[in-house]
Formats: sequence, C-alpha cells, structure tokens
Amino acid sequence: MSDYKLPVLPPKFDFETKTVLKQLVNSNRALAELKGYTDTIPNKHILINAVAINEAKDSSAIENIITTHDELYKAMSSSINIDGSAKEVVNYRKALWYGYQLVKKHGFITINNIIEIQSVIVENNAGIRKIPGTVLKNESTGEIVYTPPAGESEILKLLDNLEKYINEDDDGLNYLINLAILHYQFECIHPFFDGNGRAGRIINVLYIVLKGLLDSPILYLSSYIIKNKANYYRLLQEVRVENKWEDWIIFILKGIEETAYTTLSLVKKFNNEIENMCEEIKNTLPKIYSKELINLLFYEFYTKIDYIKKGLDVTRKTASNYLSTLEKAGFLVSDKIGKERIYQNKRLYDLVKHFR
Ligand SMILES: Nc1ncnc2c1ncn2[C@@H]1O[C@H](COP(=O)(O)OP(=O)(O)OP(=O)(O)O)[C@@H](O)[C@H]1O
Ligand SMILES: [Mg+2]
Repeated sequence: MSDYKLPVLPPKFDFETKTVLKQLVNSNRALAELKGYTDTIPNKHILINAVAINEAKDSSAIENIITTHDELYKAMSSSINIDGSAKEVVNYRKALWYGYQLVKKHGFITINNIIEIQSVIVENNAGIRKIPGTVLKNESTGEIVYTPPAGESEILKLLDNLEKYINEDDDGLNYLINLAILHYQFECIHPFFDGNGRAGRIINVLYIVLKGLLDSPILYLSSYIIKNKANYYRLLQEVRVENKWEDWIIFILKGIEETAYTTLSLVKKFNNEIENMCEEIKNTLPKIYSKELINLLFYEFYTKIDYIKKGLDVTRKTASNYLSTLEKAGFLVSDKIGKERIYQNKRLYDLVKHFR
C-alpha cells in the first residue's frame, strides 16, 4: 500500500449519475432553505456561535475529546487560562471564525490559509509534515490501511492542485459534489501531523460559504460525520481502493441534506427565543430597554460589565445596574470566574446545550 500514489484532481469518474443528480437536487434545496431563513434574521454573530459551539464540541469528540457544555462555557467567557478538552473545542471554534473571516475578506482559500487554520486548531506552527512515517491505521485492528504522501514538496504539489480546485468556479454549479471530492482529497493528502480531520471539516463549511451556498458557516455537518464515523472511514477507504466514488458522494450529499434541516430547526428555535426575550425585556423592563442593549445581549452567550459600559457609552455603575436588573428579572445568570463577573444568557445557552 505504501507505494500508492494519490492522483491529482479531478478524478477520472463520471459523477453525474442519476442517483447523484437526484440527491444533489434535494441537498441543494435543503441548503437553500437554510440560507433563505438565516438571511432574513438579525443577531447572526450569536447564531453562528450557537452552531459553532455544538459543531466544535462534536468535531472534537471524534478524537474522543469529551467535554461538557459547562466547562466550555467557562472556557469561552473567561480570560483566565484554560486547559484540557475545553481548550480544544475553543480552538476549533476560533479556527472556524478565523477561516470564515478570511473567506469573507478575500473570496478565496489558499494553502497558507489552510495552514493557518490548522495551526489555530492544534495551537502550534509545525505546518506541513516534513518527516515521513505518518500512517493511517484501522482503529480496531491497528492494521495500516493507508500511507499518505510523504515529503514536503510532494504534499505541496498536491495541495496546490487542491487549492486550484477549491477556488475554481463550476459552470455546472455542482459545488456539493466538488465538496465531497475535495474533502476526500484533503484527507488523503493528510498534510499535517495532526488536526487533518478537524481542518478538513472546517474547510467543508468554508467552501459552502465561498461558493455562496450559505452566507455564514452555519452548517452543522460534523455531527453527521461523527454519528456515521465507521461508514465515513470505510467510504474514504473504498474510494481509494475500489474507486467507489458514487457511494462516497451520496454519503456526503445526504449529510448535507440532513444537517441543513437539523440546523434549520436549531436556528428557528434560537431565533424565536431571541424574539421572545426581546419582547419580554421591552415589556417588563422599559426603563433599561434599548435596541443597542439588545444587540449587546445577543452578540455572545455571555456579557460583562465592561462590554456594556463600552457598547452603550455609560458609566460602570449604570452598566452594572443594567446587568443586575436583567439578572433579577431572570434573563441573565451571573457567575464569578476568576476575578470577573460573567453574565450568562442562560436561556439561549440551555437551548443550544440541549439541542440534538
Ligand atoms: N483510510 C483513510 N483514508 C483517508 N483519510 C482517512 C482515513 N482514515 C482516516 N482519515 C482521515 O483522517 C482524519 C484523522 O486525522 P487527524 O488525526 O490528523 O485529524 P484530527 O482532526 O486530529 O482527528 P479527528 O478527525 O479524529 O477529529 C479523519 O477524520 C479522516 O478524515
Ligand atoms: Mg488527531
């Protein structure tokens, strides 16, 4: 197996089979529905984070990094140093945001962007694999199933080809088929010592944004990959060994359809809850209600006196008064983390926490 040479893209295969095209219609439709709904709603920052938190948590769980939402919450909101599994999840979320900003700013994804994204995920600058010896094993038997390309120049050559493929416009608009192809290719190039899976899953959603299929990185696709991990690994392997492209493409397309609907239902619930809270605050606390305050409250899952002070240009005392009023009325729950008092938007956070 170690003398296997990974071919460059595009693969020699006729992708547009009847089954694929049929599934493609459904997947595109689901994604368009999600896009249509999210385009119309305010408070996108917190919404993206709502999806990103679960995405990051699940995505990190492929590596058996299990962490609780409560640990995560502490890790996200406090400026004190955190360690362990919560940190991995926070890094994943950070990498996703970082990548999203790059795509929005430049309108393309380069090899260097991918290297930067991976370095945020693993928190080191090791970059592309330089030393040979990386092998992929079957998790249960320990048998070596694949030896990815070795040597920096060989890896860069393949990445260069991948970069072109990512940034190319497709006249046929079969971007979702391309996504499946490039995810396979990226994982087979396996350019890094670690974090290839996580980087690859971030690239998936960035690609969707890059091609304008969604405006924000809010597709909760990793959960599907994780739920179907055994199949995912088997299908990757079968593409390479048996050229079974169709099953792989269908697997990814189905995942996109399924997760677009799951994400849509989360987004709807989330947005309704925000609307309810706005109404309630307006009606029960008219003295402190303002549109600006609402925007600050629904920017993140937590807020601090400082943010309110700066955001509304009020004194510390006023800011503190606003937050304690909101807490007394049950909209926020505060907690002291280190020296800071953090006000959690508990209703929204609980919604995300229990969403499955
Ligand atoms: N046989 C295979 N052929 C191609 N790619 C594979 C194969 N087995 C695993 N992979 C890919 O390698 C990834 C794991 O690589 P790596 O450990 O570098 O990434 P990670 O982000 O640390 O882990 P994880 O994906 O488990 O979270 C898997 O997610 C999968 O995409
Ligand atoms: Mg790993």
